Amino acid sequence: MDLKAVNTGARIAGFLCAPYGADDIELKNRGQYMAMHKRAGIIGVGSAVPERVLTNYDLEKMVDTSDEWIRTMTGIVERRIAAEGEGTSDYAIRAGRIAIENAGLKPEDIDLIILATFTGDTPLPATACIVQDSLGCKNAPAFDLAAGCSGFVYGLAAADAFVRSGHYERILVIGADLLSRVTNWTDRSTCVLFGDGAGAAVVATVGEDEGFMAFDLGSEGSGAKSLCIPAGGSRHPYTPEDLAAHRDKIYMDGREVFKFAVKIQGEATERVVAKCGLTTRDIDLVVPHQANIRIIESAVNRLGLPMDKFFVNLQKYGNTSAASIPIALDEAVAEGRIKRGDIVVTVGFGAGLTWAAGVMKWAF
Ligand code: ACO
Repeated sequence: MDLKAVNTGARIAGFLCAPYGADDIELKNRGQYMAMHKRAGIIGVGSAVPERVLTNYDLEKMVDTSDEWIRTMTGIVERRIAAEGEGTSDYAIRAGRIAIENAGLKPEDIDLIILATFTGDTPLPATACIVQDSLGCKNAPAFDLAAGCSGFVYGLAAADAFVRSGHYERILVIGADLLSRVTNWTDRSTCVLFGDGAGAAVVATVGEDEGFMAFDLGSEGSGAKSLCIPAGGSRHPYTPEDLAAHRDKIYMDGREVFKFAVKIQGEATERVVAKCGLTTRDIDLVVPHQANIRIIESAVNRLGLPMDKFFVNLQKYGNTSAASIPIALDEAVAEGRIKRGDIVVTVGFGAGLTWAAGVMKWAF
């Protein structure tokens, strides 16, 4: 068989046809469209978190807070903190290796790596390249993707488009962040929220009736300042005063982000299931960004679904940004909460402000 010709044909088909999420494809045509095209889905997952546990009681000794306040206001009980000298790539590599093994692949089978993070090992080069080298993915171009806590689902959407267009076939998507490195440990309103970790998924071609069904991605840049690291970029390189005032660390207007999160999580979930002709009643499991139990409960109320349709592990890890959804996916699979054929929704929100929701029929 002339593989080159086959590949070229797939690419042309990919370019000529609009993505299935495009507005001009009516829902009634969607089934037909999906049948005509390659479907992409997750075929393996993995995760890695640091050994060190920082409990709410530990935080009581660091700032003016209490275990009761943190549990009641966030649901978080403890979080993991990376050891000194470790970098985000250390966890991205571990999670990625497990995901590749679970997918039954070898590192050289991976033909693209997308790493969602905003806490890379260094500003340059992309941390994805460090991961690529360490994993031995010698056939994979690699790049970082910055979309805050929504980054992993943005990465899945990009991988879906790359696979369906025929550009790449087996893509490692990783969400990894060491938020402890950009946390102001003197600010009680933020330092109780964050943790470190990484999760990964291998995206590849799956059966005609499985895999990704729709995505709903968005950004609302007018909210950029409500969740940011104020100094250290091209507009305002660090000064000694910035470092003294912790402007190299996360600033968050918690109430603004909370309002945005509550609104967008429900809206995006409703929109994305409607895009693929389903209703929220068809969902088997929602794997939401693990930021705050009250934000997840608001989605439970809005969507009218029982709490056991939502996977929650934020009590153990806090908010690990881009890592939170893939860590949760990995644990949900390990606990038997997801099985082949289930309709799974992932939904995240974060800095940007951004949001990202996806629906998939679980494919392994
Ligand atoms: N311990 C004790 N008291 C505290 C703490 C604390 N750790 N933090 C704040 N408080 C106090 C405040 O000072 C305030 O006191 P006051 O009434 O005397 O002024 C009171 O608690 C209430 O504070 P609020 O900030 O108004 O509380 P809120 O209900 O907004 O909850 C929280 C705060 C938990 C941070 C919430 O706003 C939240 O979860 N926001 C969303 C955060 C989020 O999900 N971010 C996700 C994106 S992160 C990313 O992309 C990296």
